[in-house]
Amino acid sequence: MANVVFENVAKRYGAVSVIEGLNLEIRDEEFMVLVGPSGCGKSTALRMIAGLEEISDGDVRIGPNVVNDLPPKDRDIAMVFQTYALYPHMSVKENLEFGLRLKKTPQAEIDRLVGEAAEILGITHLLGRKPKELSGGQRQRVAVGRAIVRKPSVFLFDEPLSNLDAKLRVQMRAEISKLQTRLKTTTVYVTHDQIEAMTMGHRIAVMKDGRLQQVGTPLEVYERPVNLFVANFIGTPPMNFAEGTIIDSGSRIRTSGFDFAVPASLLALTQGNDGKAIVLGVRPENLIKTAKDGRGETIAIRGIVEIVEPIGHQVIVHAKVGGDLFVAALDAHNLPKAGDSIELNIELDAIHLFDAVTETRLTT
Ligand SMILES: Nc1ncnc2c1ncn2[C@@H]1O[C@H](COP(=O)(O)OP(=O)(O)OP(=O)(O)O)[C@@H](O)[C@H]1O
Ligand SMILES: [Mg+2]
Repeated sequence: MANVVFENVAKRYGAVSVIEGLNLEIRDEEFMVLVGPSGCGKSTALRMIAGLEEISDGDVRIGPNVVNDLPPKDRDIAMVFQTYALYPHMSVKENLEFGLRLKKTPQAEIDRLVGEAAEILGITHLLGRKPKELSGGQRQRVAVGRAIVRKPSVFLFDEPLSNLDAKLRVQMRAEISKLQTRLKTTTVYVTHDQIEAMTMGHRIAVMKDGRLQQVGTPLEVYERPVNLFVANFIGTPPMNFAEGTIIDSGSRIRTSGFDFAVPASLLALTQGNDGKAIVLGVRPENLIKTAKDGRGETIAIRGIVEIVEPIGHQVIVHAKVGGDLFVAALDAHNLPKAGDSIELNIELDAIHLFDAVTETRLTT
């Protein structure tokens, strides 16, 4: 077992900088998810751990060793790709055995490891088939099996579920999580899907434009996003934003649609910031239909309903409040209609405040 450390890592292609100043530790036995939009450098970071990409600057360590110049085969890692990269002419069993044969593992040991992996993944009955005779989910299991038979110190996953349909993706994501809990192998998992990140990661590392934005448990990142980008990226439907100003010596906030007295829990952030331009953030679930007991202070705002999306247990309502569009996830009874005037209540303690200029979270 091992931890993985990026120390001031940069990746450049000629003059093009793809990753800058990456500092991140993936702890021993941890399931770390690298998440961010397309092109932000997730695969590049993963491939630098694997040794498939040269490091322009800084160090990558696996356990105690700097691995910058170590070839992939000597890094004791196993990688699972989006395209499962199975050998089409080999049976499932041969695919699983392949890496072990290269390592000159004795046959009895190969049989034991392959048997065990097939058992764990529930593919024992498929060992004699060729990849083309398997479903997408079964192929994915074989690809994972090929990684686990090698008992590496680190698993690397690059969007392994993105070729599966939505239902299978949910199932496989639970299976991979369970597998990691069982094997405890240090894991770095890349995805652009924030739900996958939130549900699978012990911690998640959010990236944008080759820069790490925030690292934390899913809940930490959800509850205290460090900037507007993270606030917007994590959570569905995404957080609502409204530009505003801190007024009245820091005691009130005004937006285009409403103004309110800053609750005691947020006063430390606004006092001394009179006149400051801010962006106020409210998650859809903190916009409620009627003020509820025990949920702290709320303020009522009024909007005009634009879109109503029933999704079963909830209805997603888009409403124009002043110049801003607010999305609320409401209980499904009493469906409003487009054009209705609707009252919503903002739970004030759940408000997020960001500096409109730097886009970073206001902190004390
Ligand atoms: N050989 C190359 N030369 C120049 N730029 C490259 C090269 N390979 C990748 N890039 C750039 O590096 C950036 C990061 O690419 P990377 O594949 O790591 O993104 P990603 O976060 O994995 O995206 P996706 O979610 O689409 O897979 C991209 O902007 C890409 O265009
Ligand atoms: Mg990628």
